Amino acid sequence: MCNRCFRLAIEIARLHEITLFDYQIDMLKVVGNCIVLGGRQIGKTMVTALKALSNAIIHTKTTTLIVSPSLRQSLHLFGYIDQFINIDPLKVLIERKSKTELRLINGSRIISLPSSSNTIRGYTAHLVIVDEANFIDEELITRVLFPTLSTTKGHLWLISTPYNKDHIFYQIYASTSNSNSWHKFRIPSSMNPLISKEFLTMQKQSLGIYYKQEYEAEYIDDHTDIFNISKIILDTDLQLDINTIYIDVGGYSDYMGILYCHKKGNLLYVLDEYQGQGQYLDQVNNQIVNKGINPNQNVSIVVDSTGVGKGIEEYLIQLGYQTKGISWTRDNQRNAMIKLMHAIQNKQLFISSKCLMLIRQMREAVFKAGKLTTLSGTDDLLYALMLAYTDSTKRHAQILY
Ligand SMILES: Nc1ncnc2c1ncn2[C@@H]1O[C@H](COP(=O)(O)OP(=O)(O)OP(=O)(O)O)[C@@H](O)[C@H]1O
Ligand SMILES: [Mg+2]
Repeated sequence: MCNRCFRLAIEIARLHEITLFDYQIDMLKVVGNCIVLGGRQIGKTMVTALKALSNAIIHTKTTTLIVSPSLRQSLHLFGYIDQFINIDPLKVLIERKSKTELRLINGSRIISLPSSSNTIRGYTAHLVIVDEANFIDEELITRVLFPTLSTTKGHLWLISTPYNKDHIFYQIYASTSNSNSWHKFRIPSSMNPLISKEFLTMQKQSLGIYYKQEYEAEYIDDHTDIFNISKIILDTDLQLDINTIYIDVGGYSDYMGILYCHKKGNLLYVLDEYQGQGQYLDQVNNQIVNKGINPNQNVSIVVDSTGVGKGIEEYLIQLGYQTKGISWTRDNQRNAMIKLMHAIQNKQLFISSKCLMLIRQMREAVFKAGKLTTLSGTDDLLYALMLAYTDSTKRHAQILY
């Protein structure tokens, strides 16, 4: 950032009575490309807004693009920009403003876009900032965003919590060959003076391995030994009824995984498992019937309804089972993973020692490319288990149908 931009950014913060943290000041001093690997809540998004605004004010007739993974996140970021400019003496600089675009009277504009937007192509930009860059399709960064800067000699800022090593964000961050052209930062959440040690200790206890990714700015990709499995194996057979069934349907050549569970409040007991090849409708019904379950019993079924699973969801609904379909997205998968970790840490999950294949998949679990899988690649029962930790508020809504 040029010296004038830097001084203006500091002044905008001061006008809003914000004392920037040292690392935020260091980020704002950067002239050139910048990559920041950070923990949660360190003020990444806020500093991004300051950077964008001060740059647009100082450098006339420039375009700044800010890209976030989702519409919600791009609106959040733009909220900061809106708040920062809406103060005297800056207000007078506004020419036009919408929820995602700010035009200044000096001819500059700032546009905040979700990465899903198909209108990103075609811009020429002087500064591009990508918030949570590691979560964005890397082709968007390399094929769409890089070229917007080609004629302007503009700069790129990539900021993110860690997610996926198999991604341009990590390649740039880890590369030593291009280190001259990139200013690099790694900022764990503990560097934020407003985050207490007690809070971090609590989060560490409840997030397990995810803590590293969320707060320590460390990748957990390639990490094995994720679950402390011995703690959650139940040797004695509890006489519990099956009241919830989780089904991971899998593709045509994959395995289908079924977990028969007893769910009571926060507690989940996995009582039995089934793993079979193919995912034929009758096969699913037979497995459930073989367990002595019929649609009149109060048993809920949760099924991965992505792709071929949709058919199985509809079939089970037709048979009269209380069925809820879940479509995996990167976001809800990550949330389910965090909740699963939380349940394990808090001793809310028990797995019967009968469930040999699930136990094996949990022992072999590994993070690869930001995703949970197993060393062998067979992860159907693990994903069936994750279904238990998807958003419970949606369940009731769907059961009504
Ligand atoms: N220097 C600062 N002084 C006081 N509060 C700050 C400062 N920087 C950021 N904050 C506040 O800290 C909170 C987190 O900021 P921000 O959303 O920018 O962080 P983030 O790293 O993007 O978080 P997340 O990981 O959730 O995306 C916000 O409430 C923000 O207003
Ligand atoms: Mg943020």
